[in-house]
Amino acid sequence: MSNQKISVVTGPCGGIGTQITAQLIRDGFHVVGLDINDSQLSDMSRKYQSQFTQIKVDLTSANEISQAFEIIKSQFGGIDALVNNAGNCFMSEFPNIPADEFDLQMSVNFSSAFHCSQAAIKLMLGRPGIRKIVNISSNGAYNFDVFDPPHYRASKAALDTLTKDLARRYAKEGISVNSLAPAMTESPLFGVLSKEILDKALSQMPRGRAMKPEEIAAWVGFLISPAGDISSGNVIILNQGRDVR
Ligand SMILES: NC(=O)c1ccc[n+]([C@@H]2O[C@H](COP(=O)([O-])OP(=O)(O)OC[C@H]3O[C@@H](n4cnc5c(N)ncnc54)[C@H](O)[C@@H]3O)[C@@H](O)[C@H]2O)c1
Repeated sequence: MSNQKISVVTGPCGGIGTQITAQLIRDGFHVVGLDINDSQLSDMSRKYQSQFTQIKVDLTSANEISQAFEIIKSQFGGIDALVNNAGNCFMSEFPNIPADEFDLQMSVNFSSAFHCSQAAIKLMLGRPGIRKIVNISSNGAYNFDVFDPPHYRASKAALDTLTKDLARRYAKEGISVNSLAPAMTESPLFGVLSKEILDKALSQMPRGRAMKPEEIAAWVGFLISPAGDISSGNVIILNQGRDVR
């Protein structure tokens, strides 16, 4: 087996995930992509050939996640980096959020990252170098002026607490865990917003534009590169300076 580094990216078929995948492949990683979107996974396999492995997973199922990591273990033996990127934003408003929407929101944004991290860390232990987990959080967990619904905010706040717990727990083992918390980033996720809400949120961005998925991916690449080795337990807000007072 080659000594190429192995990364796992959840939601590689989405706006930000596509760019994270491209970045990590440029940086020399093999990317294992876990997504529910079968046809887009196949497109990525065709594009990246031997640099990409697709595994179709519904990340709301702990069982499917466990099976995916069994496949990763048998094919690659271990993991050097995990990016918990898959997510969604459900827009029902409090106090009328249906219970099943709440459960799904927590499951896609938080529980999936929890289960992937548990499985990934077992495959990181004992590997050489500083291994990395990057969680894609959201500025919505911290800025209460923008539109984000409470279950979305809470799912990302939970994710950032997981970041800190794992950073502390595995500091001596050499596993660095950080969150990136972007504000408005151009992606298909904008489709959940009405034109009015989207225009208002974009008008609040200081540079007059949304951030680009490749700009977020560059930060993922930086954290996973050797330059990121000494950062752990941080939630890095990316918002063009919007909330500085
Ligand atoms: N776009 C933004 O403005 C923005 C801002 C802050 C944070 N984020 C976060 O960035 C991350 C990526 O978002 P994006 O904008 O690229 O969204 P996106 O909708 O373009 O991509 C989401 C990806 O997750 C996958 N996914 C969703 N549910 C899944 C499931 N149950 N099982 C497997 N895969 C599933 C989708 O298939 C898709 O590939 C999310 O965690 C999101 O919360 C986005």
